Amino acid sequence: MTNRRTVVYLAIVHTCTIAVLLLLFSVYGPVSFAWSDILFWIGAGLAAHAVQFDIAHFETQRMRVSVGLAVTTANLTLFSPPLAALIISVASLSARDLTGKTDLSKLLFNRSMFALCGGAGAVVFQYVNGLNPGQEVWWFIVASLVAAVCYGTLNTLLVAIAVAFSSGRSVYAVWRSASSTLTHVSYLTLGAYGATLSLTYTRVSPLAVVLLGLPLVASYYGLRNSALVRQFYTQVVQSLADSLDLREHETAGHTQRIAVFAQRLGAVCGMRGGSLESLYVAGLLHDVGKLGMPDRVLLKPGSLTAEEWEVARRHPADGAQLLEPYEHLREVAGIVRHHHERFDGSGYPDGLAGDAIPLGSRIISVVDAFDAMYFGRPYRRPYSWEEARDEIERNSGSQFDPAVVSAFLTIHWPGEVELLRAQGEHDAHE
Ligand SMILES: [Fe+2]
Repeated sequence: MTNRRTVVYLAIVHTCTIAVLLLLFSVYGPVSFAWSDILFWIGAGLAAHAVQFDIAHFETQRMRVSVGLAVTTANLTLFSPPLAALIISVASLSARDLTGKTDLSKLLFNRSMFALCGGAGAVVFQYVNGLNPGQEVWWFIVASLVAAVCYGTLNTLLVAIAVAFSSGRSVYAVWRSASSTLTHVSYLTLGAYGATLSLTYTRVSPLAVVLLGLPLVASYYGLRNSALVRQFYTQVVQSLADSLDLREHETAGHTQRIAVFAQRLGAVCGMRGGSLESLYVAGLLHDVGKLGMPDRVLLKPGSLTAEEWEVARRHPADGAQLLEPYEHLREVAGIVRHHHERFDGSGYPDGLAGDAIPLGSRIISVVDAFDAMYFGRPYRRPYSWEEARDEIERNSGSQFDPAVVSAFLTIHWPGEVELLRAQGEHDAHE
């Protein structure tokens, strides 16, 4: 978080937070409260936020999840907005924050951001809850869910802006990659759980809230285990891709680039969630069938004979055959099988044409060709961006899907290459 845009953004967020807090205290104050309530909910928030972990996403940005939104939602409903803002800002400190592992500017940004989101969420709750003077429980839950969704959405948006400014990507692209159906479902489920915690606290007792927290502990272990399995899967796929790069040493880094570029282009083509993840994996493994190709063909510097060409053309079908037995990789296998099809039907292995070719294969076909041109090959000099772009445009409709080419042309690819390079160097220094 060091560039000028990021510094200005951080200053704006901090200023807005102070202004919003002053405004909330003047509108809702003087605030009456019991210290025991505040200490109880700060403790509950710290416990819930302490259990954060990485989801190993096939993306260049890492995501952290926690079950803290449930406690946050309870706070939105229990306290007046200025107090909710302050409590949430403190209660959302994670174990990393408390042990000094988070850098100071990020720590302060998070405090401001959580206060801002907490204040906004609590105002939304007060407003929606006030629309029904009957005080029925079902309406209380509706108001809690609306507040939780507003809180979660504003939170994701403010973080997306910060990540976009520090990484050079567009806010929309970061926002899309951080939001999925799963995130929205988690806002609603954790929001509903938070409403239950709040009702239990006011109508039963704090001890009952502690007992209700036990399923959260169980869900944490469930989520953590699934994150570990995903992480293991990521590493296995990555090492398979690396072993291929190692064999084809002249194109080191090729598979990683294809995966990132395909995912970037896939998002512009409207792919989302699980399909986008499959596309990333297919990018890593698109040439996995080459593992079975003899060195005399794979590493031959000159042009291939008809017989060698026949062997080389087998790699998409061989790769798909390798992946098909695994249910989780079926979609990936389909993309891998057809990544050398041509839009006009003259490709291989099946001679599919147009929309009969999986969209993921049509996307990989374009980024694979771009990568080969832009980075060059032992037998061909690298093209400039303009040359590569013109060549791809020239083959639109014959080799490539015109719709995918149009989407490709909306992205400035040398910028993406730079971003990936910077990301790689950043990872290397971590
Ligand atoms: Fe290939």
